[in-house]
Amino acid sequence: MTILVTGSAGFIGANFVLDWLQRHDEKVVSLDKLTYAGNLRNLESVKDDARHRFVRGDIGDNPLVADLLKEHRPRAVLNFAAESHVDRSIDGPEDFIQTNIVGTFRLLEAVRAYWNPLAEEERRNFRFLHVSTDEVYGSLTPAAPAFCETHRYQPNSPYSASKAASDHLVRAYHHTYGLPVLTTHCSNNYGPYHFPEKLIPLVINNALLGKPLPVYGDGQQIRDWLYVGDHCGAIRRVLEAGRPGETYNIGGNNEKTNVDVVHAICGMLDELRPRPDGKGYRDQIAFIKDRPGHDRRYAIDASRIQRELDWKPRETFDSGIAKTVRWYLDNQAWVQSVTSGAYRDWMDRQYRE
Ligand code: NAD
Ligand code: TYD
Repeated sequence: MTILVTGSAGFIGANFVLDWLQRHDEKVVSLDKLTYAGNLRNLESVKDDARHRFVRGDIGDNPLVADLLKEHRPRAVLNFAAESHVDRSIDGPEDFIQTNIVGTFRLLEAVRAYWNPLAEEERRNFRFLHVSTDEVYGSLTPAAPAFCETHRYQPNSPYSASKAASDHLVRAYHHTYGLPVLTTHCSNNYGPYHFPEKLIPLVINNALLGKPLPVYGDGQQIRDWLYVGDHCGAIRRVLEAGRPGETYNIGGNNEKTNVDVVHAICGMLDELRPRPDGKGYRDQIAFIKDRPGHDRRYAIDASRIQRELDWKPRETFDSGIAKTVRWYLDNQAWVQSVTSGAYRDWMDRQYRE
């Protein structure tokens, strides 16, 4: 049996493939366009693994995806591929529309054409698992209940709007064509292989380089942090036992303000890699101009997946952030390899002031 994983060279996709191959003998075909965020080094340890085949390509390349499906006959397609960074979507939304909306549509079309003529049992057992985000639900006030699966869609950024559009297409392919789809909405992930444009790896990297730790606005925005290994476990569980047509919210039960997250990282680094001048890393914090349309709070109500699929996160924020900071300290060569010219141009543009 085989699964096809898209976006497999990115942060969550790579963690998922590595975790999968540690637990299963089932073959993985991975498809990734290798944008600035995709990095084959993430999959280095499975490069020569006979159970893994990497293909460079776009989810929107219908003939390529059709050929892959025909050749490998996967029992499931897991779609992690996306443009994923909110700030980049504000800077230039085009790629988000192309990959997240048009790309997902074309992938669905290729999958539908493959799935339709399958034998009855294969059709029934097939799964298309779409990895979405809690950001499609918009922003919560401080006292509002956390997002449940029936929360209305209210995306606020070009990124979340493009993910919302892709979710609707996935849903429509179930209702119209009967494709057995599953959609997951997770909160902010963190952990190994996280590209250092996102808050946690950016703060670790900047701290070690002696650079400012940029906090947008007042830093009181809240995110519900989910350790990536927990997220991978939840996806495996949804693939295994989720009901086709359903959506599942996946969260870490770890609501934190951005300032608290930055303080936690500074505290870990003070302990593990003290600054040579004896000062604390907190001295490097710089409050900067806020992100336009910045969502104030995200929080996931993960009670459905716990109740129906018996999944809950294992890591607390303290245990997850400790693992993450250690991973970055131990993998500085990886950080240097991803902080290429294109990355430096982005950092210069985004944080110029
Ligand atoms: P990422 O940006 O690290 O990786 C995305 C990967 O997709 C990259 O390897 C990139 O090369 C690939 N890709 C982009 N466009 C492609 C295309 N057209 N065809 C094929 N491959 C393409 O993102 P991530 O953090 O790993 O996120 C994975 C998924 O999880 C995304 O769908 C994202 O929306 C969702 N998500 C992420 C988070 C998070 O905190 N990181 C939270 C909620 C949801
Ligand atoms: P990010 O990691 O970009 O994830 P998302 O926008 O998908 O939640 O940002 C997490 C939070 O951190 C978000 O509230 C924006 C904030 N943030 C900063 O304060 N400074 C930064 O340099 C970045 C990248 C993010």
